[in-house]
Amino acid sequence: MADQKAFRASILHCLGNPGDHDDPAQVEYFADGLLLVEDGHVAALGETQNMLPGLSADTELTDYTGNLIVPGFIDCHVHFSQVDIIGSYGEQLLDWLERYAYPAEEAFAEAEHADAVAEFFVDELLRNGTTTALVFPTVHPQSVDAIFKAADKRGMRLLSGKVLMDENCPQALRDDAESAYTQSLQLLEKWHGRNRLRYAITPRFAVTSSEAQLKAAGKLAAEFPDVHVHTHLAEHLDEVDLIAKKFPWSRSYLDVYEQTGLVRERSVFAHCLHLDDTDRQRMAELGAAIAFCPTSNLFLGSGLFDLRSARDRGIRVGVGTDVGGGTSLNMLRTLSEAYKVLHLQGQSMPGFKALYLATLGAANALYLDDRIGNFLTGKEADFVVLNYDASSIAKRRLKRTRDIAEKLFALVTLGDDRSISAVHLLGERARSGHQSTSI
Ligand code: GUN
Ligand code: ZN
Repeated sequence: MADQKAFRASILHCLGNPGDHDDPAQVEYFADGLLLVEDGHVAALGETQNMLPGLSADTELTDYTGNLIVPGFIDCHVHFSQVDIIGSYGEQLLDWLERYAYPAEEAFAEAEHADAVAEFFVDELLRNGTTTALVFPTVHPQSVDAIFKAADKRGMRLLSGKVLMDENCPQALRDDAESAYTQSLQLLEKWHGRNRLRYAITPRFAVTSSEAQLKAAGKLAAEFPDVHVHTHLAEHLDEVDLIAKKFPWSRSYLDVYEQTGLVRERSVFAHCLHLDDTDRQRMAELGAAIAFCPTSNLFLGSGLFDLRSARDRGIRVGVGTDVGGGTSLNMLRTLSEAYKVLHLQGQSMPGFKALYLATLGAANALYLDDRIGNFLTGKEADFVVLNYDASSIAKRRLKRTRDIAEKLFALVTLGDDRSISAVHLLGERARSGHQSTSI
């Protein structure tokens, strides 16, 4: 007998990209909806009054009436090794790395430390409604084991891979071109495709990798086209200047990655604030994606991401929290800052578009939209139950909204971790790894 569960609430998901004006044809909304889950996958979605009479007697019904169910959030770029330095004061990218990020990452040489931080981090992601994440660990193989173990234990979808860095960084964090290749290969063979886990080849950025190391990563990427590539690109102007000097043969920063075989489908580039039109065209042609990280770009003073130019070229874009450069693991808070970044540039992000960027759009950026991102039949039933009344001001504002588009935008603007009532992975209520309490 299949395991059947049904969930009753208001339910909203995207069918496609709602664009700049919240095209209603690209979303589906049920004010009183029922999501039917069979063996962890979506079996049906519809109006409660139509579906309730047909439910079998053994279907377990959970009533979330008064809440809004949306697909689980997807964080396209985050560093688990940086949770302990979030909110560190006063530096821009290159100095911030030296002063805060690298020292924190050195501690991950200790497997026990890596395990403890990974456990905390994954619980925090789930508590914030994030059910899939593309995660930077550190250069240490034990940090990769730590994050995959923590995600696997909770049944979470997670992508990660050993950070590669062999120059322009502290000695204690350096590998080399050969160990980058062999350790990545070993970890890939150990973890890629295990339950819900996937491997990502992860050169930190072209500042801290030699040309030989980037080429070794590119070789691995060619040998395993179904794994991801995950790195940073064109975040800060000082970084871009450094790359131009370091790789004088390159046409641009992106070109360094392209010439070393790292720009392809399933490549995800965090930030991309300083691209030109040729870069955008190449990214679109090659099927690469961008992780837009608004809180990080504001906090580190890096700049404003031009979403319109990326989308006009047809580049896949998802949203990343980029903690610890970013200031929150919460996707609602991140989307709220995304709105402001775009608004400052005369660009728009109404509520449906925000939802798209954090769910189906992000799934598309990660080439996972055949499995997650919305509630089409057969997809994995990862979802978040959002509470409209999480704070007194949200409750007051939400009461005065007229339709779901308004509600969603107010929720994005005012929401935080208190807005997350429950999180489900493959239909099951997510549990903390430490206690068997619900997230
Ligand atoms: N570029 C290279 N490494 C990092 C990092 O850890 N954080 C951010 N924001 N940018 C980077
Ligand atoms: Zn980052």
